[in-house]
Amino acid sequence: MITIVGAGSTLAATLVPLLIEETEAPLHLISSRPLPYQNERIRMSVLDVTDKNALKPAIMGAHPQTIINCAAMTNVDKCETDRQTAWAVNVTLVENLTRLARIVDARMIQVSTDYVFDGLKGPYAENAVPNPISYYGKSKLAGENVCLSGSSGAAIVRTNVVYGPPSERPDFVRWVIDALESGTPIRVVDDQHSNPTYVEDVADAISRIVQRKRSGIYHVGGADYMTRFEFAVKIAEFFKGNVSLIRPVSTADLAQTARRPMRGGLISLKAETDLRMTMRGIESGLASIRHAMMSKHSNMVGPGSGIE
Ligand SMILES: NC(=O)c1ccc[n+]([C@@H]2O[C@H](COP(=O)([O-])OP(=O)(O)OC[C@H]3O[C@@H](n4cnc5c(N)ncnc54)[C@H](OP(=O)(O)O)[C@@H]3O)[C@@H](O)[C@H]2O)c1
Repeated sequence: MITIVGAGSTLAATLVPLLIEETEAPLHLISSRPLPYQNERIRMSVLDVTDKNALKPAIMGAHPQTIINCAAMTNVDKCETDRQTAWAVNVTLVENLTRLARIVDARMIQVSTDYVFDGLKGPYAENAVPNPISYYGKSKLAGENVCLSGSSGAAIVRTNVVYGPPSERPDFVRWVIDALESGTPIRVVDDQHSNPTYVEDVADAISRIVQRKRSGIYHVGGADYMTRFEFAVKIAEFFKGNVSLIRPVSTADLAQTARRPMRGGLISLKAETDLRMTMRGIESGLASIRHAMMSKHSNMVGPGSGIE
């Protein structure tokens, strides 16, 4: 049994079908809402994951061999202002899961971020020393630490700027496409660097870690390192949108609530060698999105919109 916590997350929307396809394990999904999966291998627990009295019977009842935690408060600016919730979801939940994992003898897989680094000299390898500069980064690092120190055989999968096919929660790609479609100018920072990661690559790394029973820290970042502005321009060019709607802005001028790493990003050499993965570049990721949009006959990008 594999338990996936935060099964309603964007990442889990790709991870769950992949695990169904690539493993034979039954899946136990924990989410705040019922999810529309129809598969006899899936069982669902609908509960508030921050309520440890609700979490305990769900995990004890499922008795999983592996617990994958995708739940997190991911809005970086909101984490800065609502620190109590950020800590409850990004740290206390992980602490509770780690304790339960010990009791049922399950291996923990915790998803994390390059925001654990200060961004002075990214991209970063797994052995770089974290130094978070935002409350989100601090809470995610604390989550990593409670997981690694509290259970044996735990794995941490750090990723950054995850994008993928249209999902419930709009990602950066969707935000840019929506702006291009509606002809709305957008300001995009031209001094924050990262390597945007296609969601299937993150899910694939987790699946391989589960199947190969790997532990320790793994970095999963895309093949192309660039600024957010350059990424937005690539999206516009790929979907034949109006590039001039995308305006560069400096981080200082944008004045976001939380500080951001300027040179973030992750070196994925360990995942590439040990997990035998090839990380997708931007062109390939955008081509996969276009394929997914076309095969779903999505009305997100309609004919005549100027965007393929
Ligand atoms: N997206 C990125 O660009 C990115 C980059 C780096 C790292 N990551 C990491 O990757 C993981 C997955 O990210 P994601 O973007 O897929 O997340 P997401 O779409 O924002 O979903 C996070 C999930 O966490 C649960 N959650 C959020 N707030 C909660 C609260 N206050 N109380 C209880 N549960 C709450 C919800 O699960 P349910 O819907 O199931 O209730 C929610 O769907 C996270 O650990 C994140 O830190 C993401």
